[in-house]
Amino acid sequence: MIKKSFLFLLLITQITAYGQSPELAPTPPMGWNSWNAFDLNINSKIVMLVADSMVSKGLAAVGYQYIVIDDGWQIDRDKNGKIIADSTRFPEGIKYLADYIHSRGLKFGIYTCCGTKTCGGRPGSYGYETIDANTYAEWGVDYVKEDWCNTDGLDTRTQYRIMSDALRATGRPMLLSLCEWGISSPWEWGKGIGAMWRTTNDIQDCFDCVRNWGGMGWVPILEKNVDLAPYAGPSHWNDPDMLEVGNKALTPTECRSHFAMWCMLAAPLIAGNNISTMNDTIKEILTAPEIIAIDQDSLGIQGTRIRNNSGLQVWQKSLKDGSIAVALLNLTNISASMDVTLEELGFKKDVTSSVRDLWNRKDLETITDTFKTKVEPHGVVVVKIKGKKGTVSALKFEKASIKMNKGNHQLIQLTVIPSITPLTVISSNEAILSLSIAGVNTYKLTALKEGKCIIKASTTDGKLSSSCSVQILSSNIPSPWEFDDIKDNKASAVYEDGVFSIEGAGADIWSSSDQFAFVHRKAERDNYISARIISQTNTDPWAKTGLMFRESNAPNSAFVMLCVTPGNGVSLQWRETIGCACSKKDFSTELLPVYLKLSKNGSTFIVYKSINGKQWVLLGDITLNLSFIEPYQAGMAVCSHSSHMLNLSKFDHLIVGTPEK
Ligand code: GLA
Repeated sequence: MIKKSFLFLLLITQITAYGQSPELAPTPPMGWNSWNAFDLNINSKIVMLVADSMVSKGLAAVGYQYIVIDDGWQIDRDKNGKIIADSTRFPEGIKYLADYIHSRGLKFGIYTCCGTKTCGGRPGSYGYETIDANTYAEWGVDYVKEDWCNTDGLDTRTQYRIMSDALRATGRPMLLSLCEWGISSPWEWGKGIGAMWRTTNDIQDCFDCVRNWGGMGWVPILEKNVDLAPYAGPSHWNDPDMLEVGNKALTPTECRSHFAMWCMLAAPLIAGNNISTMNDTIKEILTAPEIIAIDQDSLGIQGTRIRNNSGLQVWQKSLKDGSIAVALLNLTNISASMDVTLEELGFKKDVTSSVRDLWNRKDLETITDTFKTKVEPHGVVVVKIKGKKGTVSALKFEKASIKMNKGNHQLIQLTVIPSITPLTVISSNEAILSLSIAGVNTYKLTALKEGKCIIKASTTDGKLSSSCSVQILSSNIPSPWEFDDIKDNKASAVYEDGVFSIEGAGADIWSSSDQFAFVHRKAERDNYISARIISQTNTDPWAKTGLMFRESNAPNSAFVMLCVTPGNGVSLQWRETIGCACSKKDFSTELLPVYLKLSKNGSTFIVYKSINGKQWVLLGDITLNLSFIEPYQAGMAVCSHSSHMLNLSKFDHLIVGTPEK
């Protein structure tokens, strides 16, 4: 008996010792964070003033509750490893601040980092997770944002799990917000570890800018979140980053659109402006009750885009009461007439359906077919439409039959009308072809064994179904070349008529992410590798297509890569020993196609380009502290700089040779 209850207790503690409690974020978290407006220049005065304003300006009343101090509050650790706050900025200490915030009826959040140091160079939590979690609990922290700087050689999932468990073990409910910028597809593994995860690099105070380090305005961030809807839901939210509403570069119209689209995405609403000095227009945007209600709807479904005609986008989000929120977003510079039909939303045509304008909080004329409106440049109209549920009119795979090579991945899309219909999709033989969700009506096929099987999709009410036959053939990469998917998970490689088509989706080759598609062969002693790079499809400034020498497939192995990037020219990048930090040297931009040659001469690497593959122009050289264990690898590598977007690159005239001395 004693034994049994002990076992039971053990089981309970094991279950409860892991993971974030779902009650922490049944709807997307709402609050404020210091980073976007104050950067590292944060202090307790500002935080207290913001907390007061959250209450006095009515933000608390509409649901904003967390006050989060981002990077810049911490300065050192004491002899026991306990984190110390910067006493010039936080003279009263962090516990005092937490108490102050709690006394205003709000919750308190703090920032740390999985690495040895934060992005701002302050002490990180690496190796101190338990001490930090205990300190946070003692201070009364309710929310922890954990960043990903200075983490070379570390694995995202492992590190976030360590912090998640440490928080849980304190017994104090603390929401964990993962901030690894989407580099390792946290939407595929983050549920339970954290309540939300960043999906992209940092948001910038602009409409649609893209910085060459990867930061971007809200429009490109929105684009990167289009396909992530299947991964979000209560207690596990995609986080497209904190709001820029009220910061200087966005017009009121752009702020309104940014806010509405974050609500359509069921995104955490973490204000990033100075709440204490904001004007009434910004306050009205941040507190718009019927727009916030879309975000906070209890179904917790992330909205999806149903149409995009050159920047005129129609988005929908299903709500608990059976209605659908529709955002008509005009990203162009001229005003536009836009519309949406009942049928697109899965409602019956010719049935009187209600329409409510959610910004202006008034009912509009009913419709029986199409809702039409004018939308100002960069603006959005948001309505809630309720009609009578219709039937699904079409369900089809984009291809009826597919041939794939063993070891490859491929995405396949389904056309469903209306596109928001829930489906079940299965493979008739998961041992031959495994299937997983990869976006809205998009599935990832992984070819495991040679053979044939069928994928079948049906509507959940069983009224319509469609199928696609798949044949898995042996790999067609010619020997001695081999194809490897280095932690990329969507990579594939096909060889046809002298052309290698290599598709990668990985976040990067640089730093700890180390995810890419790699076609390689064994190499010994000194070699050169040259090829013509014909094209690459991804336009991310740091998408990479190039030639690589690498010690092995092991994560964070030593390598040297010469690549073309869409926004940063030709770049030579390397890691000298396993696990250590990467470095780079950039050269001028080259138009594709271009021939590149990377030559290894001991530990000196020499870089050439050519327009015809005959006359080579020397770009430069570098001598490194690097000697590969032989045999090492020589090959072609591709990544998209965004773990869920593809980069399809083509190479030909591939040669591995002995360098002329
Ligand atoms: C990273 C994060 C930001 C912010 C800064 C702080 O860039 O993504 O949101 O926390 O670090 O240094």
